[in-house]
Amino acid sequence: MRAAAFILSTAVFLSAGIGGAAAQERDAAILANACMSCHGVDGKSQGVIPALAGQDAREMAQLMKDYASGAVKGTAMNFIAKGYTLDQIDAIAAFFSARK
Ligand code: HEC
Repeated sequence: MRAAAFILSTAVFLSAGIGGAAAQERDAAILANACMSCHGVDGKSQGVIPALAGQDAREMAQLMKDYASGAVKGTAMNFIAKGYTLDQIDAIAAFFSARK
């Protein structure tokens, strides 16, 4: 039990240590990976699907929320956008916005 408590407290300590901006960027990158099969690596689309790289983060996040609510009709995106929380949408939008 002691060992388990030690491991647990160490894990909490380590994750708090990594914390902040670096961890958020990593989490956003993991989420954003799900978009890259269609929108291209780092959102730099080579095909007909729009590029996400460098888009305004607030506009992109708003569009995702509108896809999720159905206010904007698309094909793939209405279904996809529903799979994310508002915080995740903001994180993904910030990630792609920062890819230049
Ligand atoms: C299965 C392919 C596919 C995946 C995966 C996908 N998208 Fe899309 N995306 C599309 C298509 C197709 C469109 C064009 C609108 C439509 O038909 O839904 C689009 C449009 C968009 C747009 C509007 C871009 C513009 O300039 O008009 C945004 C923003 C967007 N996607 C974000 C995302 C994000 C963020 C993810 C990952 C969470 C994602 N997409 C995953 C296919 C995809």
